Amino acid sequence: MYRYASVVLCLAFAIVFQLSLGTEVTVKDKDNNICIYANLMVNFSVDYEVAENKSKMANFELPAEVTTHGSTCDNTSSTLKLNFGEGHSWSVNFTSNGKQYQADIITFSYNLSDTTVFPNSVVNDTATVIAKPQITIVDVDTCYSCRSKETLEADSVNQTLWDVLIQAFVSNNSKSENITSCAADVPSTTVAPTTNVTTAPTTPATNTSTAPPPTTPPTPTLPTPTAGKYSIKPDENSTACLIANFGLRINLKSVEMNFEPNGTTVSGSCGVNSSQLVLTSNTMTITFTFANDTKKFRLHALNITGKTSAGVPFSEVNTNLSLWEAAVGSSYMCNKEQNYTITSQLTLYTFYLQVQPFGVKKGVFSTAEDCQADAENFIVPIAVGVSLLVLILIVLLAYFIGRKRNMASSYESL
Ligand SMILES: *[C@@H]1O[C@H](CO)[C@@H](O)[C@H](O)[C@H]1NC(C)=O
Ligand SMILES: *[C@@H]1O[C@H](CO)[C@@H](O)[C@H](O)[C@H]1NC(C)=O
Ligand SMILES: *[C@@H]1O[C@H](CO)[C@@H](O)[C@H](O)[C@H]1NC(C)=O
Ligand SMILES: *[C@@H]1O[C@H](CO)[C@@H](O)[C@H](O)[C@H]1NC(C)=O
Ligand SMILES: *[C@@H]1O[C@H](CO)[C@@H](O)[C@H](O)[C@H]1NC(C)=O
Ligand SMILES: *[C@@H]1O[C@H](CO)[C@@H](O)[C@H](O)[C@H]1NC(C)=O
Ligand SMILES: *[C@@H]1O[C@H](CO)[C@@H](O)[C@H](O)[C@H]1NC(C)=O
Ligand SMILES: *[C@@H]1O[C@H](CO)[C@@H](O)[C@H](O)[C@H]1NC(C)=O
Ligand SMILES: *[C@@H]1O[C@H](CO)[C@@H](O)[C@H](O)[C@H]1NC(C)=O
Ligand SMILES: *[C@@H]1O[C@H](CO)[C@@H](O)[C@H](O)[C@H]1NC(C)=O
Ligand SMILES: *[C@@H]1O[C@H](CO)[C@@H](O)[C@H](O)[C@H]1NC(C)=O
Ligand SMILES: *[C@@H]1O[C@H](CO)[C@@H](O)[C@H](O)[C@H]1NC(C)=O
Repeated sequence: MYRYASVVLCLAFAIVFQLSLGTEVTVKDKDNNICIYANLMVNFSVDYEVAENKSKMANFELPAEVTTHGSTCDNTSSTLKLNFGEGHSWSVNFTSNGKQYQADIITFSYNLSDTTVFPNSVVNDTATVIAKPQITIVDVDTCYSCRSKETLEADSVNQTLWDVLIQAFVSNNSKSENITSCAADVPSTTVAPTTNVTTAPTTPATNTSTAPPPTTPPTPTLPTPTAGKYSIKPDENSTACLIANFGLRINLKSVEMNFEPNGTTVSGSCGVNSSQLVLTSNTMTITFTFANDTKKFRLHALNITGKTSAGVPFSEVNTNLSLWEAAVGSSYMCNKEQNYTITSQLTLYTFYLQVQPFGVKKGVFSTAEDCQADAENFIVPIAVGVSLLVLILIVLLAYFIGRKRNMASSYESL
């Protein structure tokens, strides 16, 4: 019995020791209470471009030295953000329904100008990839534990997580001693104490609830992109001839990217039959071509070119679109999130959309044709038509009555 206990103690010690090698952080909420605890190991493997058509692999670990600046906590959602090195960051979003919590999305940003990690990189901006972690259905007031390795593949980045111990939505300012183990850890025939990190080995087995298979795992979602305001002027002393406000997200081969309006250069042209808006950020160039079909305008072509975070060039073009249609002289508006399949590889998402590519007066939007009010738009012409008809009837009636009286009086005068 003693022998057994000492083996278990050693095991427990070994686990604690092993875990202490990882990155350990706590995040405090506004009341200075611990709301997230994390202790984990992450290895990154990043493919990046070093010369035309050549790529290199960078392998590095999440260091023990991190800051948690940018982490947030509230009752139903919280974010753990670990910043390290020269502008790299790794963050996880958690959501809770009060009974259970889960990690929705891992966002990893890496600064390709950091030459110690990415020597000879030809790209020098910060790239971001998102991945969906397996941290699902964790009972509140328990730690999620996963000693097994889990590799998440996203675009040009592989992340390997192991020796993970995380608790989000910590209550009472202290990390729970109860564990929800990941599925990969559970099938092993290991004895109970390994499921509990710090309680004495003599306590009964803790409730190692195996996470049931998630029913419908929510697809990873990025935050709503920032809405940008863009305009084109025919020359510097004129008011705008094309105006567009929107937030953009693209999904390229299943990798989602938000378009960042900050730092974007705007160019383009206004024509009688065709206008163009060209947005160039440091990762991509988007060209919107609008057509004026006499009475209506529409988004007629879309051309998106750029490079993925791995430096692989892409170019997706569709020159046969009929989107965002509205009468020339008005603007097209769609506040709600919309998605448009542009090519088999590319989906465009818009948020808070309003555009006017022709007939802009005084640099402001004219009457908007709202995409949601399509049904209501029919009512107005019908109402106008009906009242016109009534008016014509009244005029005709008045005419005939008048004519009859005239004829009567002319007979009398004879
Ligand atoms: C890079 O690859 C593209 C097509 O894969 C090719 O057209 C181009 O010539 C290559 N450039 C170099 C420098 O090898
Ligand atoms: C993590 O990366 C380090 C250094 O790159 C390597 O020594 C270690 O074996 C890696 N561990 C795993 C589990 O891949
Ligand atoms: C990226 O790395 C470069 C070089 O180390 C540094 O000058 C720059 O500030 C970093 N960017 C960010 C956003 O930290
Ligand atoms: C990034 O690279 C571009 C050209 O490749 C260069 O003009 C720019 O100065 C670089 N920026 C930084 C911060 O190194
Ligand atoms: C990620 O892992 C897959 C499968 O092991 C491998 O084919 C791919 O090259 C890896 N990518 C990176 C960037 O390490
Ligand atoms: C651990 O779980 C057990 C049963 O589910 C519960 O009685 C106990 O209070 C929990 N301990 C902590 C520290 O939350
Ligand atoms: C484990 O937890 C589940 C629900 O969380 C409960 O139904 C079950 O009785 C618990 N088992 C033990 C041994 O505490
Ligand atoms: C714009 O107006 C300024 C001052 O009124 C004038 O100096 C400038 O030449 C004008 N530019 C153009 C392109 O007309
Ligand atoms: C835009 O970026 C600059 C520097 O990159 C930053 O100082 C500024 O706050 C950003 N503006 C917004 C609205 O994010
Ligand atoms: C749209 O096209 C028609 C016919 O080509 C033209 O008469 C009209 O002026 C154009 N509208 C604008 C605002 O350019
Ligand atoms: C798309 O844009 C790129 C770069 O702006 C350009 O080279 C290419 O010719 C355009 N493709 C089409 C079909 O317009
Ligand atoms: C695209 O929009 C439709 C409704 O307009 C919605 O049902 C669908 O789920 C959306 N698809 C994606 C991938 O967001």
